[in-house]
Formats: sequence, structure tokens, C-alpha cells
Amino acid sequence: MAARFKAPRGTFDVLPSDSVARARVYSAAALAFERAGYGRIETPVFEETELFARGVGESTDIVQKEMFTFQDQGGRSLTLRPEATASICRAYVEHGMHTLPQPVKLWYWGPFFRHERPQSGRFRQFHQIDSEVIGSDSPLADAESIVLLSDLLTELGVPGVRLRLGSLGSLETRKAYRDELRAYLKEHDGSLSEDVRSRIDSNPLRAFDSDHEGTQEVMQSAPTILDSLDSEDAEHFEAVKRAVSDAGVEYVLDGTLVRGLDYYTRTVFEFTSDSLGAQSALGGGGRYDGLVAELGGPETPGVGWAAGIERILLALDEAKEKPTIDAFIVAPDGQRERALSLATEARRAGACVDLDFAGRSEKGQMKQADRTGARRAVILSEDGSAKIRDMQSGDERPVDLEDIAGEIEREARA
Ligand code: HAM
Repeated sequence: MAARFKAPRGTFDVLPSDSVARARVYSAAALAFERAGYGRIETPVFEETELFARGVGESTDIVQKEMFTFQDQGGRSLTLRPEATASICRAYVEHGMHTLPQPVKLWYWGPFFRHERPQSGRFRQFHQIDSEVIGSDSPLADAESIVLLSDLLTELGVPGVRLRLGSLGSLETRKAYRDELRAYLKEHDGSLSEDVRSRIDSNPLRAFDSDHEGTQEVMQSAPTILDSLDSEDAEHFEAVKRAVSDAGVEYVLDGTLVRGLDYYTRTVFEFTSDSLGAQSALGGGGRYDGLVAELGGPETPGVGWAAGIERILLALDEAKEKPTIDAFIVAPDGQRERALSLATEARRAGACVDLDFAGRSEKGQMKQADRTGARRAVILSEDGSAKIRDMQSGDERPVDLEDIAGEIEREARA
């Protein structure tokens, strides 16, 4: 028997019935970025493994457990990108974008790969919309980023959206805070999960993320970074909050917000939706003032976010939709070639037109017109005449075949 294959675990096919809603998200995102002066960037699907180890951080779950890493024929270690920020900062450095007027605002849409346990809203190949503002440390850049994502989610109609906002301080503050947190965790290590205990030294902040009961209890009284911010960081954070509020975007302050990537400094944020289950994060991001330098570029601040397209679509729970067809041409056998010429002519004029290639009877073609969701049928007769039928009302009227392309186009625009 011939072999049959399935898409690999945690991956999925985007079928035509899924792609209408997806295209709507894409268009809304593209327009939002265009209105705010962002340029679109595209980077390769794989990069040197070292880029993510350095950029995302050796101690993160992403680097430790979730990367699809392979060797190419030349023995180089490559990794399917688990996120976009490290790649985009690599491109910023590689193309000398620091010589352009700053900041450089970039956006991206594409597939990403993480070897996670698949479940609803969590895949091994998923898609993100990504936004990066590189070369400005202004708190207004943070606010612009946050408001952009908030407005995009509102415009798309995503229900139950909440924003959590925090600050991790500068690298120095974060370092001092980590020491304080390490000391606190060591005092309580008897109540912590094995996983958290093993990472007290390498990544103590992850303790806030734990779903272990004992750890959660300990973390309720843990010192939070918001209490440790120095005056500059605190001022920066105040300005971010002010500008976000001024834009009418509500948020909840969260001193325990830990993101799964190591490059964050100062502002961090996450958007969730109440209509999603356990994987409730629609998108998140923050400031990464040390990343460009870490990747060999000049000291350059940056801020950005990524949103999961599948999560947005899940939260929208949109019914599967068919692509819109303005007219389906129904033709008797003697008129089939004519039908294709008419379809081509109407398409060249901008209309969406379909027709039968399966040798269906005229009755069968009418059924097919209905199934495709076409708004109208153009019904050709053997004698060369034609009529146009409104598929919803059933109203019919004769049309001049000489101008049928124009008729379809006019009706489509009506
Ligand atoms: P992240 O929080 O790791 O951030 O991912 C952003 C979003 O991608 C998540 O909120 C979620 O919606 C979606 N996502 C992540 N993993 C999966 C998965 N396995 N399946 C489905 N959706 C997923 C970043 O990636 C950062 N690069 C964001 C950023 C940009 N920070 C600064 N600039």
C-alpha cells in the first residue's frame, strides 16, 4: 500500500477556509504599521544557533529545550528561528542600520518554530506579527509600541483583552535585584519546586512563572523588581505609563511579569485574552537596551513585541469563511470555452469569477455556484444569449454578452 503522510506533530496546514480571516489580520497589521511609519523586514527562517543562544539567553526554556537545531553539510549548527528579535537585531547590525536616521522601525509577519508540547493555541510551527523600534530609548517609543498592538487587537475585535505592564529596570538594577531575589529564594528553598531550585543561580526570575503551589506561595511575599527600580528607571516607567494612559489604553501593573526571553530591560508587557484557555497570551514584548551590543553592534536601545497570529484567530473564533466570488459562470457544453474567455476578461477588469472544469451538467454547475458562495451566476445559453442571476434573491435578468465582463465588474462594485 502507498504511504500516507500527516503534517508533523504541532504543525498544521492553512486551508483556503482558514485563510480569509488570516488575510484580514495581515491587512489590518500592515495598515497599522504603515500608518505609524514602520518598514517591513524579512529575515531567513534559520540562523546560526549561537545567535539565539546569545540573543535569547542560554538559561531560557527556548534555548535549553525548544529549539529545532540541526547541522548543515558543512558541520555548522543552524536553528529554525524561535523568535524574531535576535534575527532583526542581527540584521540591524549586519546592514549598518545604526547609520540610518534613528530609530529604525521594523515589522514582520512569518513562521516561527519551538519544540513545545502541542496543545490548544500552542504549536511547534506558529506565526507571529513582530514589531521592533531600534535606536530610541524614549519612553514614548515604548508607549507607541504598546498602543499600536492594543489598537490592532481592538480593531480586529479580539474580545476580553487585558494588558499587564511592568518594568525590569536597567541591566544593573536587574542584576542587583536578581541577587536580592536569589538570597530570598535560598532562604525558602525547602518550599520550592525542583526546577526552580535548580535555576536559583542561573535564572531566579523564572520562579514567578512557576505553577508549583509551594513556589507560588513563596513568591507572593517575594521582593518585586518594581520596588527596586533606580530613579532613572522609575522615571522612564512613569513616562511609559502616562503615555499609555493618555492614549486611553488600560493596564494592570504587574511587578511579577516575567517574559521567557533574557534580553529585556526596563518595560515589559503582555496582552492576554479571557477567551483563550491556558495559553492566554496574545502577544508580549518589552525593551531590550543591551541586545544590539550583545550581538556585536554599537550600544543601541530597542523596544518591540510579537503577537501570535493563531492565538488572535482562536480568540476571534471566526467562522470559517469562503473567499468571495462575484460571479460563477454556468455554461452548456458548447459554451465552455466561451465561459473561460468571459471569466478571463472579467478577471482582467478586477472581478472575482469562477467556473466549472469538472464537466458538471448545468444543474450541477448551479449547485457548484451555490457551494462556492458566489453572489451571482452568469448563465450562458447554447443560442449565445445570457442572463445573470442573483443567488440570494433568485432574481434574473438578461445581459448583453458583449459587455458581460463590464456587467460583472459593475455588479461586483455595486
Ligand atoms: P514571546 O512572548 O515568546 O515573545 O512570543 C510572542 C507571542 O507569540 C506569544 O504571546 C504567543 O501569542 C505567540 N507564541 C509563542 N509561542 C507560541 C507557540 N508555541 N504556539 C503558538 N503561539 C506562540 C517573543 O517572541 C519576543 N520576540 C517578542 C518581542 C519582540 N520582544 C521584543 N520584541
